[in-house]
Amino acid sequence: MHKVAIIEKIHQDGIDLLKDNPEFKYEIIEDSSEDNLIKVLPSFDACTLRVSKLNEKIMSNCKNLKVISRHGVGYDNVDLNYIKKNNITLLITAKANAIAVAEHVIYMMLSISKSINQYDQEVRIGNFKKNASSIKTLELFNKEILIVGFGRIGQSLIKRCKGFEMKVAVFDPFVNKEIIEKFGGRKIDNLDQGLKDCDYLSLHVPLTKETKNLIDYSKLKNMKKEAIIINTARGGIINEDDLNKALNENRIFGAGLDVFENEPVDKNNSLLTNKKVLLSPHSATFTEECKSRMSLETTKNIIDFFKNKIDKSMIVKL
Ligand SMILES: NC(=O)c1ccc[n+]([C@@H]2O[C@H](COP(=O)([O-])OP(=O)(O)OC[C@H]3O[C@@H](n4cnc5c(N)ncnc54)[C@H](O)[C@@H]3O)[C@@H](O)[C@H]2O)c1
Repeated sequence: MHKVAIIEKIHQDGIDLLKDNPEFKYEIIEDSSEDNLIKVLPSFDACTLRVSKLNEKIMSNCKNLKVISRHGVGYDNVDLNYIKKNNITLLITAKANAIAVAEHVIYMMLSISKSINQYDQEVRIGNFKKNASSIKTLELFNKEILIVGFGRIGQSLIKRCKGFEMKVAVFDPFVNKEIIEKFGGRKIDNLDQGLKDCDYLSLHVPLTKETKNLIDYSKLKNMKKEAIIINTARGGIINEDDLNKALNENRIFGAGLDVFENEPVDKNNSLLTNKKVLLSPHSATFTEECKSRMSLETTKNIIDFFKNKIDKSMIVKL
C-alpha cells in the first residue's frame, strides 16, 4: 500500500483515479504551512504538490518520500538539491496545460490590443460612442510576435498565432532552427534585436538564474511604442519596477501578467494601479478542462511511477 499526500486540494477527477486503485491510500492536506507539513508529511511515500514550498526543513524528516508529483510544469518551489541528493523523483504534468496557457496568452493579447476593459467601462457609464474614437486599438494580423522559450507552451502558442496570420520569431538557444521552421517560425539568435523588432512578446522560459530579470529597462526602452508584452511564465523574468517605468513613460503599449515576483501580489505593487496592465492571478491553467487534465495527470503519474510504467517525459531530469 502506497500512502499519497495530496498537498492542497486538486480537481476531483484525479482523486477518483486514486480511489479506484486499491494499492493507494490518500489523504488531502489542506494546511500546507511549513509547520504542518513537517508534522504530517513523514508518514507518506508520495505527494502531489501545487504552489506550496517543499524545502529541506520539511523533507529532511520524510524518510519514506520517493516521489513528488507537481500539479503543473514549473518546479521552482521544490528544493532540487535536496531531492537530487536523496534520490526523490520529481514528476510534472507535461501534457496537461500547454493549451490553456497558450489560450490565455491569446486572450491577453486580444484584450489589450482591443482595449476591451476601457470599451466595456465606457458603455457601462453611458458613453456609448463618445470616447470610442480616442481609444486606441490594434490588430494581430501581420504583426510579429517574439516567443521566448519554445517548449510545450511556446509550440502550442505558435499554432494559435498562425491562425491570426501573425509572423512568429522564436528565441530559444536550445531548440534547433529546423524544429522552429517546421512550426512556421523564424529562429533568431539575438534577443536584443528580436525585442526591437517585435510587436508582441510572450515569455515561456523557466525561472532560473539566467532568466531572472531577462527583460529589464535596458531592453524595454528599445522596444516599439506599440509593443505588447505578455508574461505567463514566472514573475521575476520581467523586472516589475522596470516594466512599470516603461509603461508610465509610454515606451510600450501594454502588458498582460499572469505571474508575479511575489504571489499573492503585494497590495502596494504599483502595477496594480497601472491601467496599461491586464492582470490575472496565476490562473492561466484554471480552465475546467485543464484542471481536470492536470489533476488526472498528477495522480496518474504517481500510480505509473509505483507500477514502473511512468512516461519518461513526465520525469524532471536533475
Ligand atoms: N501561468 C501558469 O499557470 C503556467 C503554467 C504552466 C507553465 N508555466 C511556466 O511556463 C514555463 C514554460 O513552460 P513549458 O511547459 O513550455 O516548459 P518547457 O520546459 O517545455 O519549455 C521551456 C523552454 O524554454 C527554453 N529555455 C530555457 N532557458 C532559456 C533561455 N535562457 N532563453 C530562451 N529559452 C530558454 C528551453 O529550451 C525550453 O524549450 C514553465 O517553466 C513555467 O514556469 C506557467
